[in-house]
Amino acid sequence: MKPEIKKRLLRTAVFCLIALVIGMGAGWIQIQMQDALSVKKDGQDSGKGPNIAGLKIGGPFSLTNQDGKAVTEKDFAGEYKLIYFGFTFCPAICPTELQKISRVMKMLEERYPEAAKTVQPLFITVDPERDTAGVMKQYLTLFHPRITGLTGTIPQIDQIKKEYRIYATKVKDENSDEYTVDHSSFIYLMGPDDDLISMYRVNDNADAVYNDLLKQLGLS
Ligand code: NI
Repeated sequence: MKPEIKKRLLRTAVFCLIALVIGMGAGWIQIQMQDALSVKKDGQDSGKGPNIAGLKIGGPFSLTNQDGKAVTEKDFAGEYKLIYFGFTFCPAICPTELQKISRVMKMLEERYPEAAKTVQPLFITVDPERDTAGVMKQYLTLFHPRITGLTGTIPQIDQIKKEYRIYATKVKDENSDEYTVDHSSFIYLMGPDDDLISMYRVNDNADAVYNDLLKQLGLS
């Protein structure tokens, strides 16, 4: 091999190595950013799900269901939970995500009725001031009957938001007394022991959620 060819090959190899290191660094930073769940906002989601290994999500709670009954995490012990945080006045993202959960539950019930009984979908409000039990009950008639709505006092909702790393903040409407709530949009899959086992984003469609759920339930 001629010395100049050898030199060129060596230069190419060094260049590739540098590019690889930069690429890995960028990938690592991206994963770190995706792990910073709480800063993501409703509808601004894109990209793949983060690496959830070791992510501490969830905890005890004390809330009220859509029938006005007090419930805690113990009422759902031993079940898989599909948990979504949102609010009933949400114009677009929340209804879409609840429709997605409804579709997933319907598919699961049709093909695996016994397994479907072990999965409890929960819709937890981030707007407890307007989302009373009655408002939640009325709203949930639009979706799958298995979805349980949970509301509570502001401190109760603040606590569960913190435990589940949910970002949600009121945004005032300039033209009226109304407000909207900017909030993160994830569907968490919690296991029977209340550990986070999977999570889904706005871009994961019902089929993708369903297929992953089957895998997590040991059905595929
Ligand atoms: Ni929403």
